[in-house]
Amino acid sequence: MYIDTHCHLSIEDYDDIEKVIQENRNNQIDKIIISGCTKDTIVESLEFSKKYNDIFVTIGYHPSEANIVSDEDLQLLEKQIQFDKVVGIGEIGLDYHYGKEDIDKQKNLFIYQMKLAEKYHLPVVIHSRDATFDTISILKQFPNVIGDIHCFSGSVETAKEYIAMGYYLGIGGVVTFKNTNLVHVIEEIGLDSILLETDAPYLAPTPYRGQINSSKYIPIIARKIAEILNVSEEMVSQKTLFNTNQLFDFHSFL
Ligand code: NI
Repeated sequence: MYIDTHCHLSIEDYDDIEKVIQENRNNQIDKIIISGCTKDTIVESLEFSKKYNDIFVTIGYHPSEANIVSDEDLQLLEKQIQFDKVVGIGEIGLDYHYGKEDIDKQKNLFIYQMKLAEKYHLPVVIHSRDATFDTISILKQFPNVIGDIHCFSGSVETAKEYIAMGYYLGIGGVVTFKNTNLVHVIEEIGLDSILLETDAPYLAPTPYRGQINSSKYIPIIARKIAEILNVSEEMVSQKTLFNTNQLFDFHSFL
């Protein structure tokens, strides 16, 4: 049994949501955590979580929204995160891949949402692209907050630094790509701090690379990690489920 700890689900990417949910159930996927990270997808994610038992959500404004988000949006977000099936805030963080023009806005938005996480005792899901140094310095300002470094792709040293701060690393389809340094990272850190994720509809694992991704491919990622560490898939399933349940609280809504 598996949980996809980070994916996106929107009618913009999938024609038939019911079919996606059913395929997940047929492929040992017990729950998925979908991330709403724009104004519209936050609302859409919350709606899906009300409709389907196996859908939980993290919500929060992605750094790419830094120029768009209004004060009213943020006030509403504070109300939205109090809904029971919200298990975390994210994806939030910093993205310098396309330039640094809005760096201050990105940092302010990130810090504002870290404060919400601290106030409501929620874990965070972090998006950090070409911004490791600044991400770590902001996370260090919030020693009471822990979370998931979504789609981790850094070095062994960076992995160890995040883990020492109490963070988990989200591992997805990239681990199945040729020449990825994630193989080395996983050999070094083992299963103790790993969460499984797809980031669907993006980053489908080999042999589906380039196609629309889906949570149903989580077992492919687990199989690859089992191969790297020379352990059983069952072991990867058990350990990553344990890690996921340590970080995210699925029970408070019951
Ligand atoms: Ni994502």
